[in-house]
Amino acid sequence: MTQVPLPIVDWARSADRITVMTGAGMSAESGVPTFRDAPDSLWSRFDPKQLTSIGAWWEDRHLVWGWHMWLAMLMRDAQPNAGHHALARWGRSATVRVVTQNIDDLHERAGSQVLAKVHGSMTAFRCEACAAPHTEPVGIPDEPVERLAPPECRACGQAVRPGVVWFGESLPGQAFEAAIDAMLDADLLLVIGTSGIVQPAASLPDLARGHGVPVVEINPQVTALSTRVDEVWRVSAADGLAALVDAVLDD
Ligand code: APR
Repeated sequence: MTQVPLPIVDWARSADRITVMTGAGMSAESGVPTFRDAPDSLWSRFDPKQLTSIGAWWEDRHLVWGWHMWLAMLMRDAQPNAGHHALARWGRSATVRVVTQNIDDLHERAGSQVLAKVHGSMTAFRCEACAAPHTEPVGIPDEPVERLAPPECRACGQAVRPGVVWFGESLPGQAFEAAIDAMLDADLLLVIGTSGIVQPAASLPDLARGHGVPVVEINPQVTALSTRVDEVWRVSAADGLAALVDAVLDD
């Protein structure tokens, strides 16, 4: 059984309002690839500038749409892991605010209320021109297809794009405001499975810490945030969160 470091258990047991900030490592044990850390991570195989920027979209919509449909297929076929389920269980008896950089819907499918998806969602689509939400099924394939034509907007006929934040685009204002509030109004912040590199999300834990909120990093590896938190716990999201929530709720 994974041992939870005492300071973390104490903080978790006495916290009324817990904020968690998750990154791709939260979904790693569900089989969704991370972006930077593993040998098979996405940016070791693909060039983000070619696939996740507005310039790439204007350059080659079919390539960008095909790649996003491959990612959507992986996420659709993945299942929430024990970490997602632990957070959802905790949220049924305490205020657990989930701020995520992830575009999958595994927190939601585990039963968590997600307060802020600061990098958007792979299950939301909108028109590139009139921004009308596209609510019809987009035809996620069952096999990877390199190039695919995106659907046309029902309202204006232009191309439908993924509702995710690409490099160089601004974050959804409402989500980021909510994330800031959740950092400041917390008794504990858990930063789970993020390399802490991509701004402005990577500055959110500093906000919490600067406000006197204890910040704990849950990550098997050292990150850019590791020297800016109060406690690091070198454990995986699934193992760590399952053990932590058991320790808090089964006390
Ligand atoms: N449990 C916890 N953490 C894990 C696990 C795991 N099982 N497996 C990997 N990690 C950690 C890695 O050590 C790494 O620190 O998850 C982190 C993943 O880092 P990134 O791949 O950089 O993902 P993330 O921090 O979420 O990236 C931020 O970059 O490309 C953009 O928009 C994209 O939202 C993404 C943003």
